[in-house]
Amino acid sequence: MCGIVAYLGTREAPPILIEGLKRLDYRGYDSAGVVVIKGGGLVVRRSVGRIAALEEKLDAQIAGARVGMAHTRWATHGAPTEGNAHPHRDASGRLAIVHNGIIENYRVLKQYLETQGITMESQTDTEVLAKLIGHFYEGNLEDAVRRALRESRGTFGIAAIHADEPNKIVAARRGSPLIVGVGDAEYIIASDAAAIVQHTSQVIYLADNEVAIVTPEGFKTTNLEATPVDKHVDELEYTLEQLELGGHQHFMSKEIFEQPESLRTCMRGRIDLDDSRVVLGGLTSVARELINTKRIILTACGTAWHAGLVGEYLIEELARIPCETEYASEFRYRNPVIDFGTTVLAISQSGETIDTLAASREGRDKGALVLGIVNAVGSTIARETDAGVYLHVGPEIGVASTKAFTGQVAVLAMLAGFLGRRRHLSHERLHEYLEALAGIPEKIAHTLNLNNQCRHIAADFVNSENWLYLGRGIQYPVALEGALKLKEISYIHAEGLPAAEMKHGPIALISEDMPVVVLAPRGHWYDKSVGNIEEVRSRGGRVIAVATEGDTEIQHIAEHVLYVPDVPELLGPLVTVIPLQMLAYHAAVLRGCDVDKPRNLAKAVTVE
Ligand code: AGP
Ligand code: GLU
Repeated sequence: MCGIVAYLGTREAPPILIEGLKRLDYRGYDSAGVVVIKGGGLVVRRSVGRIAALEEKLDAQIAGARVGMAHTRWATHGAPTEGNAHPHRDASGRLAIVHNGIIENYRVLKQYLETQGITMESQTDTEVLAKLIGHFYEGNLEDAVRRALRESRGTFGIAAIHADEPNKIVAARRGSPLIVGVGDAEYIIASDAAAIVQHTSQVIYLADNEVAIVTPEGFKTTNLEATPVDKHVDELEYTLEQLELGGHQHFMSKEIFEQPESLRTCMRGRIDLDDSRVVLGGLTSVARELINTKRIILTACGTAWHAGLVGEYLIEELARIPCETEYASEFRYRNPVIDFGTTVLAISQSGETIDTLAASREGRDKGALVLGIVNAVGSTIARETDAGVYLHVGPEIGVASTKAFTGQVAVLAMLAGFLGRRRHLSHERLHEYLEALAGIPEKIAHTLNLNNQCRHIAADFVNSENWLYLGRGIQYPVALEGALKLKEISYIHAEGLPAAEMKHGPIALISEDMPVVVLAPRGHWYDKSVGNIEEVRSRGGRVIAVATEGDTEIQHIAEHVLYVPDVPELLGPLVTVIPLQMLAYHAAVLRGCDVDKPRNLAKAVTVE
């Protein structure tokens, strides 16, 4: 989701800008940059990967500046390279902007600029905006910014500076948040209060199509037509910790509720419904080899392994490419058969899990094409694989993985569509599938309304020491994931099973003391799942069913029914997992467990 921080005041800007970017890194990014006004000109530093890489570039040339801007980029136009990183400058090199959002008519604006003899150096839409502002600049920065933004369509949160007006920052927004922090003889402008709160609690929230002009003499706010707009200064009521928690009691809760937005960010710029295509920029360099792959081995650990199992169903169904999902810890040691045309897909939120890293190296050493599906930008797995796709769901702080799981499944769903279209999937079938996938964030937002019901159900079974989770087909990995969530944060023993396997032994465990969660959404496994519910009930078991809204039958046979929205069967895991996350969360809270830092667990298992 990227971030902006800008500073004008009497203190040194670079440390404040970098610290601010770090406060925003939970928003996710792939590259970063900083620009300051110094020595009568602009000094720019940019880097790919983590903010630490940018920090290393802050030298004496940039030190001491009192006015500057910094940016973490989530690439939408142009790969995450240093040349595409922000800030971007105008043709004179004396004006710079940083930008969150998408300038949708950038191509038209670019063509206009080219008729004026102004050409681009990067592939970004942002550079077009920077050069347009510079083209309109006649000595007043806010006039030039307003004029360029009036010509721009799409979303922006921007900040702009000009070396000819060294004591001024101009900020504006439409669709991307931007807040002006009013300090003591200083201003901190940022995408999120988390970068402001340690400096001041006095803030101005810009509304869409509003512009703020800050100078040492004070601030002014106008609309895009330069009409003054009165803005009052609000008091930030959050502490930094609360802000980072977004008002939630735990990061896990915040991250469960972030999933509609984190999935929008994950899929932003990657699903093109107009042309019915999937755009995975990180795979461009290996697209031909990947399209012709004969077999895909998905390898991961824990939750990521569950996502891989879902991916296996998706890719085999849509692309008809044989897949197998391997525990990385097993794959790395069993001297796997890697024949010509094999692709190894390493899935890892942290990008540092030692078993998954070793499995990816095993694949590489045996000549496979090795790809990464990773969340942490610049992590080891991301750097070592031949290519890959970043989740862009933002840093996941809670040890129990939630938004990373749905992000991994969403990326695998996009990858399945990408591969399917290049093999058997018709244009129409892909369009229908992508339309449904693009609508999933709203479906998850609706599913989050189950929160209170999940809390009541968790309370109902808070003393049960064993739970069973059953799922069929693509819901089987969800059963595994639900069981893992419960185990790792509430310390209750839980087991996930393919529902049909219950009668091959585990049915002996059925009793009223062991709640059984059955994933029974509408689909071709529905009738069999209802049969499993009957099997459990007939032996005195208590059933919590996850079913599709409108299914009135299931409430006659299940003690509790968690209704989720109707989505295509292949995308079902993205909604059925949500109540399981909430059930586990509430069980852990009710049992007084340390939800974000469960005992014995680490967020990234970097040791064997
Ligand atoms: C999931 O909730 C756990 N934290 C754990 O299983 C985790 O998924 C596993 O360790 C893999 O981590 P990674 O995705 O960072 O590689
Ligand atoms: N669309 C701009 C780019 O691709 C900004 C992306 C962002 O919000 O970071 O550079």
